[in-house]
Amino acid sequence: MDLEWRQEYSFLAFNTLDSTNLEAKRIVLKGIEQKLVIVSNEQTKGKGRNSRIWDSPSGNLYMSILLRSDDFCDKKSDLSFVTAITVYEALFSVIKDSGYDFDLTIKWPNDILVNHAKIAGILLESIKSYGKDYLIIGIGINISYFPKFADKQTTSLEKLNIKNITPSEILDKVMESFSYYYKLWQNEGFEEIRKLWLARSFPRGSIITISDGKNRISGIFEDIDGKDGAIMVKLLSGEIRRLSSGDVFFGNDND
Ligand code: BTN
Repeated sequence: MDLEWRQEYSFLAFNTLDSTNLEAKRIVLKGIEQKLVIVSNEQTKGKGRNSRIWDSPSGNLYMSILLRSDDFCDKKSDLSFVTAITVYEALFSVIKDSGYDFDLTIKWPNDILVNHAKIAGILLESIKSYGKDYLIIGIGINISYFPKFADKQTTSLEKLNIKNITPSEILDKVMESFSYYYKLWQNEGFEEIRKLWLARSFPRGSIITISDGKNRISGIFEDIDGKDGAIMVKLLSGEIRRLSSGDVFFGNDND
């Protein structure tokens, strides 16, 4: 395979790490100038969004992309959407090649679902060092293993009967796709990315509930804010609420 992304990014591969995001932070603190990709076969302290654990035995893809602020111009929230499209497209090509026709969607802000079950997650973290801002984009894709939860559906490629695809093959697909959508974002801006994201997300008009851990609101998914990617939800009262973070569930808590 043509590995163009390897000319743009430095690359580090590990067998075991606590977390590829933590390793990226350690590297930033030591000092780094170039864009970097880190992968690990397994993680002992994999991190998910909202301080959750990301169970990380070997067999899945665990990776982080490290960018400097000069590269992403302080628009960190845009990169969350760029990455969601990236992972969606990498998985789309794997599913297409397998001959299956699964329902692949993005769930705001950046979960990737197959037939409503989560198959990949993205965790963005930022860090300052030597007066510079860095962004760490952590990506986990379930290839052979998926964790089981009482309150949410999860899956893996193997569970979908897509076998014989390795973490390193998916890494190449993710990075080729990231390189493409990252440049598209740099050239065309967030509006183009917002449109591509909306075309791949669960549809506008869906009834959803969002929880930030303390409060839950239910309503209709109206739109994504073109300024900062906040989700806009229309409540029963007609009021539009903007939320910048939270977990989305399908359905209505008011029922
Ligand atoms: C989520 O909760 O959906 C985000 C999960 C992100 C997991 C990935 S695996 C590679 C990177 N290293 C981590 O510790 N977390 C991210």
